[in-house]
Amino acid sequence: MYLLIPAAGSGRRMGSDRNKLLLPVLGQPILAWTLLAARESRLIRWVGLIGQPVDFPDFKEIVMALGMTKMVHLIQGGTTRQESVYRGLQGLPAVAGRVLIHDGARCLATPALLDRCAEAIQHCPGLVAAIPVKDTIKVVKPGTHQITQTPDRSNLWAAQTPQAFVVETLLRCHEQGREQGWQVTDDAALFEQCGYPVKVIEGEETNLKITTPLDLAIAELVLRQRQS
Ligand code: C5P
Repeated sequence: MYLLIPAAGSGRRMGSDRNKLLLPVLGQPILAWTLLAARESRLIRWVGLIGQPVDFPDFKEIVMALGMTKMVHLIQGGTTRQESVYRGLQGLPAVAGRVLIHDGARCLATPALLDRCAEAIQHCPGLVAAIPVKDTIKVVKPGTHQITQTPDRSNLWAAQTPQAFVVETLLRCHEQGREQGWQVTDDAALFEQCGYPVKVIEGEETNLKITTPLDLAIAELVLRQRQS
């Protein structure tokens, strides 16, 4: 299975002036934990690591320390996650039929989750790891604090990554998105917008996206618990 890891973001919301994925958690950069899950997966054989060239020396060091130099290929990212994934898709070998996309910032995803997604994508065109939401979600009118809607919680799932797709179809969806100027925060949204079916498969409660310093502290706790 082919895996793309978008890792070309910044550390703005983390209050850091460098790529947040280079920040340490339990003695290793966030990105190292994400790559470790890929290394331990049974099915992933090829990893496209999407980053900004300024981070490549650090990325290479991490990849080398994990003994993954043969498996990991560096790809230059763009200014948005959407653009980064588009470039990642173009960097895939031509034989890649299906692809897993997993955010570098979700460093707690387990190898078992990656493998479950890799297996499931053999039987459908698109899927998303997700978990049912626990909170009641409100829709609020932009620019106000006025609630306009309370969707039925039993139908709501919080999308995570991995997300997985048939490469050729996803590439077409990205191209259509670029032509139409769609701006999305995950790949499934492009797939859905083009009318293709996307399934949810059970994600992991601990599979959080490291965004703020609090997330970093929680990640450290989870990793420490896994180690003990
Ligand atoms: O910023 P956020 O955490 O939502 O980004 C999700 C993932 O997308 C992160 O792993 C980040 O490194 C990646 N990203 C990217 N290219 C960008 C912006 C974000 O690969 N231009």
